[in-house]
Amino acid sequence: DDEKDLKPRPPIVTVMGHVDHGKTSLLDAIRNTNITDGEAGGITQHIGASEIVINDKIITFLDTPGHEAFTSMRSRGAQVTDIAILVVAADDGIMPQTIEAINHARAAEVPIIVAINKIDKQNANVDRVKQELAEQGLLTEDWGGSTISVEVSALKRIGIDELLEMVLLVAELEELKANPNRLAVGTIIEARLDKGRGPVATVLIAKGTLNKGDFVLTGTSYGKIRAMVNSKGRRITTATPSTPVEITGLSEVPEAGEILYSVEDEKMAKDLAEKRRQKIKDESNKGTARVSLEDLFSRIQEGEIQDLNLIVKADVKGSIEAIKQSLEKLSIEEVNVKTIHGGVGGINETDIMLASASNAIVIGFNVRPTNSAIELAKRENVDIRTYSVIYSAIEDIEAAVKGMLA
Ligand code: GTP
Ligand code: NA
Ligand code: MG
Repeated sequence: DDEKDLKPRPPIVTVMGHVDHGKTSLLDAIRNTNITDGEAGGITQHIGASEIVINDKIITFLDTPGHEAFTSMRSRGAQVTDIAILVVAADDGIMPQTIEAINHARAAEVPIIVAINKIDKQNANVDRVKQELAEQGLLTEDWGGSTISVEVSALKRIGIDELLEMVLLVAELEELKANPNRLAVGTIIEARLDKGRGPVATVLIAKGTLNKGDFVLTGTSYGKIRAMVNSKGRRITTATPSTPVEITGLSEVPEAGEILYSVEDEKMAKDLAEKRRQKIKDESNKGTARVSLEDLFSRIQEGEIQDLNLIVKADVKGSIEAIKQSLEKLSIEEVNVKTIHGGVGGINETDIMLASASNAIVIGFNVRPTNSAIELAKRENVDIRTYSVIYSAIEDIEAAVKGMLA
């Protein structure tokens, strides 16, 4: 996306920490609700999302489970977040899942605000918590470091305003932006099958705007958005960046962590989902990974590959046909070089999705991939090759097909 298209968006704040240190209670105090009482055994088992308005500013909060079994959920929470609130109970100190949460936040390069909770307790020991934080490389500001910490009691609602002030302060420094005027991209943060409504998924919108009636693709699931409900349970028809929204209309329950894409039309969504499904089947049958030019020759020899699928993007229409013909001529007895899609313009996320679904390599001629296409290609393991002279492209593909690539 171009800088000029970017608009400010609300911060996404994830509450993390060891089991029972008071993450959900802290969110209850912020929201003035009482979710903790309604949880099975008092253990959070999913990433709950809520939107809170403070001084006219929206903040999206995600709760995460502290129980050791939920590592992947904590990791997912850290990945989609802008700011992590690390909750540490003052009577218990740094525990294994506190350290895990710190590691997830660091891996995601997310700023950490520490909430030292349960300060109302007789045996609370704030200094000990600060000492233990320092041992983890989180030296608090009052100890000469740069880690923001706030002493709170979720139960007695002490320190909540100060914590929220810090969140807004850190969020302001982050200058969070996204382009709302494009097809939506988001992350599935939780999903389940509802008896009456079918597959139900909570999506956190990263960029673009999701609309009721949009065609979407996520993993091998696809569909037309039938209804959208916001975190307050109200029906809505559009969801902008940083908004968590519950959607229905998907063909199957997607996996949490999957990326959701809005696509142009239903056929495309359906075809891509079908290709992905077929591919997963093929891969599990053959145990193969995605194609790259490096391993092409050995896989041709193994008899694993009979088609080298290419997606060709170029700056002008005339080049596409020329490149297509030159490359397809490189077909040999063992492998058929095929251009499955050609188009004018930069390499975008749709090209990568198509490449991923059909085991193709993306060739760019005098065009470059967008940043989001690069990110997606990394995640989907898609090989992108860009050239400015046709001859170099021919040389590379020929070398790969014949096993001579340096
Ligand atoms: P998981 O989601 O299971 O990891 O737990 P959690 O971190 O969300 O903790 P939760 O909010 O469920 O609180 C655990 C227990 O600590 C509950 O019994 C809360 O009432 C209690 N608790 C939470 N905050 C405070 C606090 O500030 N003071 C005191 N005294 N108790 C608290
Ligand atoms: Na709990
Ligand atoms: Mg909880």
